[in-house]
Amino acid sequence: MSAESLADRPDHVPADRVHDFDLYNPPGIEKGFHEAWLALHAPGVPDLIWTPRNGGHWMATRGAQIAEVFSDHQRFSARVYLVPKSVGEQHQMLPVILDPPANVPYRMLMNRCLAPPRVSGMEGRIRALAAALVDGVVARGKCNFISDYADVLPVRIFMSLVDLPDADVPLLKHWTEQIVHPDGSMSYDEAKAHIYAYLDPHIDARLGGAGDDMLSLLINGMVDGRPLTRAEMQSLCMQMLLGGLDTVVNFLGFAMLFLARNPEHRRQLVADPSLVGPAVDELLRRFPVVSLAREVRDDIHYDGVLLKRGDMVAIPTPLAGTDERQNTEALKVDFSRGPGEHVTFGKGPHFCPGANLARTEIRITIEEWLKRIPDFSVDAESDLHFRGGLVGVVNALPLRWPVT
Ligand code: HEM
Repeated sequence: MSAESLADRPDHVPADRVHDFDLYNPPGIEKGFHEAWLALHAPGVPDLIWTPRNGGHWMATRGAQIAEVFSDHQRFSARVYLVPKSVGEQHQMLPVILDPPANVPYRMLMNRCLAPPRVSGMEGRIRALAAALVDGVVARGKCNFISDYADVLPVRIFMSLVDLPDADVPLLKHWTEQIVHPDGSMSYDEAKAHIYAYLDPHIDARLGGAGDDMLSLLINGMVDGRPLTRAEMQSLCMQMLLGGLDTVVNFLGFAMLFLARNPEHRRQLVADPSLVGPAVDELLRRFPVVSLAREVRDDIHYDGVLLKRGDMVAIPTPLAGTDERQNTEALKVDFSRGPGEHVTFGKGPHFCPGANLARTEIRITIEEWLKRIPDFSVDAESDLHFRGGLVGVVNALPLRWPVT
């Protein structure tokens, strides 16, 4: 999805809005993912820029605009929600591509599956899995947090939510990798076909049953008073799977990287575990990972420029909670800050239905990790590598700690 060729500047884009920035490969990413994004908060960068990368698109650079574009579906449609537009048009996942009111019945179904009482009911399973994963590495005194923990937790939780066997995890991970970070060996359509074919017999087995797992709830749900079609079932299940994988993996990576580098913050949490909840919110504000987009519905004037019908506007969440105009001392991590302004889980009609589950997974991870490994650091800073993308990536996070 990288942008080798540069789009020509269309006539309606003023020259002073052009700023070359590839959101899949932000300049300076070798120093850090968020550091690279923050270059767009430098003085002189407009609140709305146009970049010739990824097919040529607008990009909101400030928290207020990013929140507005996320939530104003009258002007900015989710029909195409990622750039380049040519690639975004292939991603036809429900309910993301539907604007209100069409998305509402699907969202009601998803919300039911991930409602707070259901997530609270899962806490025991999440905690047992988190504890087992940390127990598996603690005696070693070192691990790669991404491959040993973060990569495993969300997909195993998903399998348990939908009541599918853990033995199928490698297959599902392989296909989802080809969708989220394609290596060219498989097209988007091929990977999607594999996931749909995998889901099909499980859907058949649950259809019309009284199962309480998330897959049963989804496929036996109704929209507008009618049962779902097979295509709708497959699409919703796949979106639920994709939504909760990369996001949690990489956010956990950035959160643990921060804790590994900041002993003072770590000590606060060890001394007072009741701070872990607020710490999760503060880390989510400071280290957002998702960069999506919207399509302009009709010609409009916005931020002093003309946006043409069909133009794409990128809305990178890493530039929202970190914006000094939104939060005082926005780059400082302060567990006593209270609720900060951010759109790490989006805003408006497509606000992440998994936010509650994600927060629970992150909180339990920090609690179970610190109980067993209160003191840890990055093993070799030179082994850290970051990547941009729809979701910012920490490729590896080598951690070490004293073994007693
Ligand atoms: C730290 C973890 C997570 C982050 C940062 C995150 C972020 C987001 C964001 C920004 C959106 C808005 C998309 C848009 O407006 O176009 C979204 C939507 C979504 N997320 Fe999450 N997410 C996380 C975890 C999860 C989990 C655990 C699940 C499911 C189990 C999930 C499922 C979804 C789904 C299904 C949507 C689409 C909702 C819709 O279109 O109505 N996410 N997420």
